[in-house]
Amino acid sequence: MKIEELKTPAFLVDLPKLKTNIRNMQARARMHDVRLRPHVKTHKTAEIARMQIQDEASGITVSTLAEARFFQKSGFDNITYAFPITPNKMAEAAELSGRMKQFHLLLDQRETARALETYGRDNSVCFSVFLKVDCGYHRAGVNPSKLESVQLAEKLQTSKHIQFKGILTHAGHSYHCRNREEITRIAKLERDVMVEFADRLKQHGLACETISVGSTPTAIHAPGWQGISEIRPGNYAFFDKFQADIESCALEETAAAVLTTVVAHYPQRNQMLIDAGALALSKDPGAVHLDEEFVYGAVPGNPLLKIFNISQEHGLITGQAPIAFNNFPLGSLLQIIPNHSCLSAALFPKYHVVEGNRVVDEWQPMRGW
Ligand SMILES: Cc1ncc(COP(=O)(O)O)c(C=O)c1O
Repeated sequence: MKIEELKTPAFLVDLPKLKTNIRNMQARARMHDVRLRPHVKTHKTAEIARMQIQDEASGITVSTLAEARFFQKSGFDNITYAFPITPNKMAEAAELSGRMKQFHLLLDQRETARALETYGRDNSVCFSVFLKVDCGYHRAGVNPSKLESVQLAEKLQTSKHIQFKGILTHAGHSYHCRNREEITRIAKLERDVMVEFADRLKQHGLACETISVGSTPTAIHAPGWQGISEIRPGNYAFFDKFQADIESCALEETAAAVLTTVVAHYPQRNQMLIDAGALALSKDPGAVHLDEEFVYGAVPGNPLLKIFNISQEHGLITGQAPIAFNNFPLGSLLQIIPNHSCLSAALFPKYHVVEGNRVVDEWQPMRGW
């Protein structure tokens, strides 16, 4: 099958680029002697996760219990559920723990630690748990400079129903950077904060088996990870316009695109309608800190085209200059690099895997919660 035969909108995965992105990250991890535990929420497919892991023993990261269940059933038995656990999910987490060699949870609240311990005691389970640390993103995690954070680690370490696995952070503030130099600075901070906190825990007699960090921008530009056990980037498999805008990658390296059809021309207002709206591209505005006049994706080879307005299924493109409508006849196809590939991918029930113009495979991602 050729790309032109696909019904639109469709989600395309460029296989050679995907493989290159995966190989490059594996090579970076190897070069810096750090384990790679890819976050698979970007694609949620067993096919890509298998390409990403280095060997049978290496693990993956997920963001929902439904993902954990799907990947466990697909043969993965070393998974970190990298979202803070809550009491209403403990029974499912316990059940999954029993099915895998390694299943790690994380938390940053004393109350949650107490609830987990109680659940473990009442149900004779021992959970493997990371203490989530805030390295500057301020989304979740304990403040590493506070004594109460050390005390929470101590509580995890001394609990009979918890195995203290170590400390984990996500430098999501790397997405606020403007270029590679700024990302490199955040990557150093991410490492330093974690290594220093682990040292502090050691001074209190608390052993950190694993120190886990990771975001795609910092994984791409970190000068090194001395003292760090593992990295957990995810988006790097596809990349996207956001990553290209902040200089994590070049736009040409992006391995995911939304295929869309030109539906209508409106020369009087210099606009074209496409069949990719918010349910294909998502409403992620992209790197608005770099350009307030945001667009909903890039059209490679046509930098003057701007997807400036989207509703549920409709997308409107305008041009910085008058659009050469003859180059985009009605029914012709465009490939759009989404602002945020993880969100766009999550909107499609299947991915079309392409090599050049040929559709070579079809992958079914897991869906639901
Ligand atoms: C806890 C955690 N770890 C790792 C990642 C992967 O980061 P990225 O999406 O930048 O690859 C994320 C992404 O949000 C995350 O929330």
